[in-house]
Amino acid sequence: MADAAEFQDRLLSLGLARVSEAAALASAALIGRGDEKAADQAAVNAMRDQLNLLDIAGVVVIGEGERDEAPMLFIGEEVGSGKGPAVDIALDPLEGTTLTAKDMPNALTVIAMAPRGTLLHAPDVYMEKLAIGPGYKPGTVTMTMTPSERVSALAAAKGVSTENITVCVLERPRHEELIREIRSTGASIRLITDGDVAGVMHCAEPEVTGIDMYMGSGGAPEGVLAAAALKCMGGQFFGKLLFRNDDEKARAVKAGIQNFDRVYTRDDLVRGDVIFAATGVTDGSLLAGIKREPGWMTTETLLMRSKTGSVRRMTYRSPIK
Ligand code: FBP
Repeated sequence: MADAAEFQDRLLSLGLARVSEAAALASAALIGRGDEKAADQAAVNAMRDQLNLLDIAGVVVIGEGERDEAPMLFIGEEVGSGKGPAVDIALDPLEGTTLTAKDMPNALTVIAMAPRGTLLHAPDVYMEKLAIGPGYKPGTVTMTMTPSERVSALAAAKGVSTENITVCVLERPRHEELIREIRSTGASIRLITDGDVAGVMHCAEPEVTGIDMYMGSGGAPEGVLAAAALKCMGGQFFGKLLFRNDDEKARAVKAGIQNFDRVYTRDDLVRGDVIFAATGVTDGSLLAGIKREPGWMTTETLLMRSKTGSVRRMTYRSPIK
């Protein structure tokens, strides 16, 4: 049996991929059916069942919500057999519920696992996010720069003109000014309707995705998952929690957060080694979606370990019973 004091990331990684695959397969029948809740519930159930087969003493730190709002995979829920290493789990059984319900690109199932006490317990509030890919010096872009300064700085570091920079942004009314300012630099914008974990991950492989930088606000829990992905793939990430009211601040305090103005780096959000798995639900620029053929379904999963920087793309052919 695994030594409880050790993370055992190598041993656990294939198990994590199975968890991610199971959630994707469970949501397959609900792609394009217009029912976000049913798709999410199917992924949640499957992810929880598979997680509980792992020999871990896991605690969900990023999950489906607070205990009183989410019956399963709530924050603080203990998962796994309880017999293995003590780990934190961050998950989003279906990242892009609307994308799935509408059969739009880039819906994923996402899960990350790390030694106990090393992932930020992010409250369910918004987070201002900034990400770039690997290979740039620290300080190339910062949260204190304006959006146009970031575009210019990144273009200079990349050795290209600002017209050759592409920024990914969530299409939201709250981002109108951000979009206007980015466009004023000549940079282009890839607007996404949902799914900013994938949006941030796109920065890690600009030659594949065509995206150099991510900017804008989205869910804070998704920020921790995106930081975990970039810790494995390489790249810089910055996040600042945004509070709209006292209730949201109270949520942060409950999660152990005292400094409301802190800018978290990737390594503040994910303080140690991490393993990360994501499976495509609908086709996207990083992962193929689920393929259904007579007799079987096929998934594609990205399985990564920060300790080694290993990135595996795995296809899984699952017989339909
Ligand atoms: P769900 O899959 O939970 O629907 O989240 C999708 C998402 O687009 C996230 O990727 C993103 O962080 C968040 O919603 C943005 O929130 P909002 O829709 O309120 O702008």
